[in-house]
Amino acid sequence: MEQMDNLRKKFVSPGVPLEHPLVIVRGENEFLYDDTGKRYLDFTSGIGVTALGHANPELIKAADEQLHKLWHVCVHVTSYPSYLELAMRLSENVKMSGEKMVALFNSGAEATENAAKISRQVSGKTYIISFIGGFHGRTSLALSMTGKYIPYKIGFEPLTPNVVHIPFPYCYRLPVKDEDECVDIVMSIAEQVVNVSLSSQAIAAMIVEPIQGEGGFVVPPKRFLKELESLAKKNGIYLIADEVQTGYCRTGHFMAFEHFNMDPDMVTLGKAIANGLPLSAVVGKKKIMEKVVSGSIGGTYGGNPIAAAVAIKVIEVIEREKLCKRAEALGKIIAERFNEMERKYEVIGEHRGLGIMRAIELVKSKESKEPNKKLTIRIIEEARKRGLLLLKAGYYGNVIRLHPPLTISESSLINGLEILEEALRASL
Ligand SMILES: Cc1ncc(COP(=O)(O)O)c(C=O)c1O
Repeated sequence: MEQMDNLRKKFVSPGVPLEHPLVIVRGENEFLYDDTGKRYLDFTSGIGVTALGHANPELIKAADEQLHKLWHVCVHVTSYPSYLELAMRLSENVKMSGEKMVALFNSGAEATENAAKISRQVSGKTYIISFIGGFHGRTSLALSMTGKYIPYKIGFEPLTPNVVHIPFPYCYRLPVKDEDECVDIVMSIAEQVVNVSLSSQAIAAMIVEPIQGEGGFVVPPKRFLKELESLAKKNGIYLIADEVQTGYCRTGHFMAFEHFNMDPDMVTLGKAIANGLPLSAVVGKKKIMEKVVSGSIGGTYGGNPIAAAVAIKVIEVIEREKLCKRAEALGKIIAERFNEMERKYEVIGEHRGLGIMRAIELVKSKESKEPNKKLTIRIIEEARKRGLLLLKAGYYGNVIRLHPPLTISESSLINGLEILEEALRASL
């Protein structure tokens, strides 16, 4: 372990962050094992990626079979079955209206970046509206759309221009009396940006995470996304749902936008799509996607045959095992526990989430709502000592978010929640 630590210090740029000072050598469903053989319960899933668990045997088999047939050919050079089949499966499973077309990439950032590029090219307009506290990745346009400056943007400007950020209905942190007022205020700002500060003639797209992920699992009131969609449609603006973190059943539906009865024009997917092999996708309405200029999108590796074969199997397993329903059921267990903890501890300002995607926001007191980042870090350390890996998030780094695999056993989930509460008590 010490030797590995030294290797990281000596050879890996500190620009790449590290949440847990561990060297993990093996995984098995909800468990990870470090180089000393210590076992950890994994509530991170590599940041919401390994939704079907580590070393899933069916996925290994799918990867292995494809590995022996074809690793790479590049979809710009020839077609191959796994790319085509996955494109069809995603068109069928991502439930926006009308016919759809797909393009595959390697990372979430590439998906959001390409969705924005497509909206600019096809609409002939340039402005993109995104949200304060939103996260869309680290490449230039994706980073421009990301609504948080520190640490992501430090020293990287100028970024891609013509991106405007507006507030997200993070009602806990807005001075409002209820959710309706929260949506009213946020929508009136959105309307002014669309029609006064900018114009429908200038705005290509709005990009929104149905639930802000890195922002701290901020769930908007139900009305909000539908009203945003109406504003977009009324003004001829494409609506992009960034489902990189929320997709693949984490919220209890295959896509989180389904909770809000929303009909986006494009959807970006990543993370859980191939359970950890690098893959991402833009699924868009055919009337937009068919107009993209040939050769203007894509890339050498996008939709790699092995990643695509695994992604097809991921969809098959999710359907067969009814993992969306399972995420909802497991989410209820977490919600009950978090509700109880919220009542019990002055430092839990709010618990929120949908499905298994749940978080607690830590504050100095319920009344002040002052973010408590130090306590958040302490709890994560105490949990790690007790064999549980957690992740923080949030506008102010004061949210603990849960990303267990959808395949976690109920007893491990309950055990993890026990450890989390113990760690919180030990940190007070
Ligand atoms: C909603 C969302 N979009 C985009 C990204 C970027 O994905 P990647 O890190 O694969 O580039 C993330 C990553 O956390 C994300 O949560």
